[in-house]
Amino acid sequence: MRELELRTVIHACQPEELTPEEQHLLQLAIDATTRSYAPYSHFRVGAAVRLDNGIELSGSNQENAAYPSGLCAERTVLFYAGAQYPEVGVSMLAIAARGTDGQLTLEPTGPCGACRQVIIESETRAAHPIRILLYGRSECYVIDGIRALMPLTFSEF
Ligand code: THU
Repeated sequence: MRELELRTVIHACQPEELTPEEQHLLQLAIDATTRSYAPYSHFRVGAAVRLDNGIELSGSNQENAAYPSGLCAERTVLFYAGAQYPEVGVSMLAIAARGTDGQLTLEPTGPCGACRQVIIESETRAAHPIRILLYGRSECYVIDGIRALMPLTFSEF
């Protein structure tokens, strides 16, 4: 039997090491956490995207008493981007979250599995990888394309 070792590269940095554009997108994601509707989990997530034409959009998680009817911040903004600008690719996605204490999380918060699958589809639509920025108070992570977070992707049939 052959063992396949998969390698993932994540760049850890301080926000000041990012470009002004990246820092701005992270700030939009942080701002969006304040517009989250999370009366059940009290975990407030914000996500922001920059499109290939420079337009920036943001979204937050929106929960519902019938739990599965809610939606994560990443899918809220990615579906909104697709609905408003179907012909424009997403170039960057920034994510930030506040824990139940209301504080921005110390560690970066990664997208859930379902959101990763949707990000793959956004990369397919854009025809290029999406740069992913994850905010944490201690440090930020920069990931060049969702495939680093989701090997063996299912993207076509
Ligand atoms: N959540 C997100 O918005 N994004 C993720 O990637 C993970 C989880 C939301 C869903 C739910 O409203 C709350 O965080 C707790 O799971």
